[in-house]
Amino acid sequence: MKQFSVAMLGYGIAGKAFARILNQTHDEIMKNTGYDVRVVAITTGSRGSLYCMDGIDLKEATRQLEEEGEFDPESPIFSTMNSMEVVETVDYDAVLELTPLNIFTGLPAADHIRKALNRGKHVVSANKGPLAWYYRELRDLAKEKGVCFFFETTVMAGTPVFNMADNCLQYCKIDKVEGIFNATTNYILKEMTKGVPMDEIMRAGREGGFMEADASMDTKGWDAAAKLTVLLNVLMDAGITPDMIDRTGIEEVTPEDIEAAASRGNVIKLLCSGTMDENGKVTGKVAPGEVPVGDVFTDENLVAVLSLYTDLMGKLTILQYGLETTQTGYGVFIDTVRILDNIK
Ligand SMILES: NC(=O)c1ccc[n+]([C@@H]2O[C@H](COP(=O)([O-])OP(=O)(O)OC[C@H]3O[C@@H](n4cnc5c(N)ncnc54)[C@H](OP(=O)(O)O)[C@@H]3O)[C@@H](O)[C@H]2O)c1
Repeated sequence: MKQFSVAMLGYGIAGKAFARILNQTHDEIMKNTGYDVRVVAITTGSRGSLYCMDGIDLKEATRQLEEEGEFDPESPIFSTMNSMEVVETVDYDAVLELTPLNIFTGLPAADHIRKALNRGKHVVSANKGPLAWYYRELRDLAKEKGVCFFFETTVMAGTPVFNMADNCLQYCKIDKVEGIFNATTNYILKEMTKGVPMDEIMRAGREGGFMEADASMDTKGWDAAAKLTVLLNVLMDAGITPDMIDRTGIEEVTPEDIEAAASRGNVIKLLCSGTMDENGKVTGKVAPGEVPVGDVFTDENLVAVLSLYTDLMGKLTILQYGLETTQTGYGVFIDTVRILDNIK
């Protein structure tokens, strides 16, 4: 039995969800792949780190964070190593980049990934920052080092986008994408359409735990622009950054605009689109736009949707319903399993 050692940078919503799924599936993975997957290091921003090459008890790690708010400093596996120290020194096979997003720089996550790839380690990132700012460089580095670099969680949580494109759309050219990628603005616009006042929408969103205290990265369209950038970089090799997206948020959308759209049989959505012209130049746009009622993009229960326009398979639309933390954890998990499939 071979051990496959994982270092986790960040142990929040995504990290804990990954840990739950790994615990559930560990024995089945071992049976199917021959690998005993163990997490050997966990870092956080302010709650300490854990390090144990025999494998960390993930249930206990989660319990400590949830019940005590930090890892037990008296524990024999407690460590003061920060993320970069773990990336640089620990003998892991794969690193999971699960630290918070910096939408304007992609740092320090991109530095963690660059360092791990340079050491010849596999990388899974749920953090879209590094892909939005440094995709080409990191992809080429992974190729040069002969290691895997996967990132399914970055755009529609665990909903298969990149895995599907890689595994099922080989030799298809994608020259256009369109979709709705930001759940928060989709929710705000949906509630505005029902006539709910903005302060009530924001209060309910925060109380429901699905809206940040500061939702401006969503309402200004930055989150959607970063996701669109990732899609265009990965699917069309665009080589662009989020500041190159033609971006308008939803802050200027008024109840009157929504009523006027309704009178035309339409609803307003924050639409994302990207196209490649005949010369290979890729451009992306995020802006509120009208969609006819009844179009799949207007489905009330949708969290996100993506249409891919391909030469050999026509138009394909991927719909995401529900935004459970398990879906986020699954994206990280399935990328990790995909590494095992690649190194068998
Ligand atoms: N949650 C989702 O549904 C979702 C979906 C798709 C993608 N993502 C992406 O996944 C990543 C993680 O998201 P999350 O929801 O799990 O965030 P989260 O709940 O806020 O957790 C972030 C974790 O990272 C830790 N952290 C902060 N700075 C760090 C550093 N320099 N080194 C190591 N750890 C650090 C935090 O520790 P402290 O608490 O001590 O600061 C915490 O454990 C983000 O990039 C996010 O954009 C999340």
